[in-house]
Amino acid sequence: MHHFHYRSGVLHAEDVSLARIAAEVGTPVYVYSAATLERHYKVFTAAFAGQRARVFYAMKANSNLAVLKTLATLGAGADTVSEGEIRKALAAGVPASKIVFSGVGKSDAELAFAIDAGIYQINIETEGELLALSRIAAAKGRRPSAVFRVNPDVGAGGHAKITTGSSDNKFGISIGDAGRLYDVAANLPGVNMVGLAVHIGSQIRELDELEAAFQRLRDLSKGLKAQGHSAERLDLGGGLGIPYEMSEAVDHGPSLIQAYAAMIKRIFAGMDVELGFEPGRLIAGNAGILLTRVLHLNQRPQKTFVVVDAAMNDLVRPAMYEAFHDIWPVQEAGHAAVRQPYDVVGPICESGDTFATARPLPQTKPGDLIAFMTAGAYGSSMSSTYNSRLLVPEVMVKGAEFAVVRPRQTWDELLGQDRLPKWL
Ligand code: LLP
Repeated sequence: MHHFHYRSGVLHAEDVSLARIAAEVGTPVYVYSAATLERHYKVFTAAFAGQRARVFYAMKANSNLAVLKTLATLGAGADTVSEGEIRKALAAGVPASKIVFSGVGKSDAELAFAIDAGIYQINIETEGELLALSRIAAAKGRRPSAVFRVNPDVGAGGHAKITTGSSDNKFGISIGDAGRLYDVAANLPGVNMVGLAVHIGSQIRELDELEAAFQRLRDLSKGLKAQGHSAERLDLGGGLGIPYEMSEAVDHGPSLIQAYAAMIKRIFAGMDVELGFEPGRLIAGNAGILLTRVLHLNQRPQKTFVVVDAAMNDLVRPAMYEAFHDIWPVQEAGHAAVRQPYDVVGPICESGDTFATARPLPQTKPGDLIAFMTAGAYGSSMSSTYNSRLLVPEVMVKGAEFAVVRPRQTWDELLGQDRLPKWL
């Protein structure tokens, strides 16, 4: 469910026409709907109402301060994976007591920063990290709460590159090693182990693998408890998928959330544990689009390329994961409009800079505006300046209002990043 729809033949974000945003801010531009963000967060938290559950928004999906603050205002915590993300979460008003620090390789400096900030929980992924955390914290006279991220050897996800739970993926400690590491931790002065975490992949639309992973986590936590350890915080990660094809039932999202919540309730029934969640895509994905303008058509004998002003540096998902993003024209075509297959491509000098191949679209011409849908998660947050293109701006819409929440980068900013050595 999202708030992008046609009104009088023009695609709107809530009550604001995308044609107006394109005219005032320029293209390419990300446009977010505050109402959609809010709705997704509320639907997710409502599914766990009455349970000991905490929601930490996985801000790698979209870390714009306006997005974070919109969610923080509703009470969301933040799942972070770098010092930069912790700093942004704090700057957006997420209290330290609601911040979790995940990630495969945390540096000493990052661990020190997290300890000083007094965050809620550190998710440890290796024995070396356990020892480093304790050493750094003990030197500060601190004893932060931590959980072990375990690798349940159950992977899932929309693409091999976003599957994380298999034993041949780099993530987490082996389940079989958890007991030993808990024993090691019990003798360390600077860490307080309170539970376990798991995250098996992203864009997961079937619950079977999640269920298998959660069962393993449950059994492990019971085993640890029987050994006298405390494993009463279970962080179940993120990963729940969303519809990218708008032909799918719009309400599939919420019903998947309900089924997920029911499955979790069943698995952890009767256990006195606090559950943690780290949804990212589910909150932000359908809350954003990438608005772009058609620059040229390249009509060749075999096919027609639509060259748009957005590129893989602005939205890398199709190039990186063969991801599908629906394409909606800003001027509504109507159901009767004849569609023809187009390859929609960006201006970057590599063939991978392709958003869609043989996509049926209504007749398209230079100057038209089109929207890549479901681009609110892992869109802007993965953007770069490749080809020395300016970082794409971001706009947030709330009702009839909109605000530029990240201005387009300037040429001075782009050029000012480099330094010349003195021999030049
Ligand atoms: N927690 C941990 C430990 C994670 O690694 C991730 C995502 C999440 C939570 C949030 O997962 P979500 O609910 O968003 O599925 N760039 C890729 C997705 C990478 C996901 C990485 N980890 C994409 O564009 O599809």
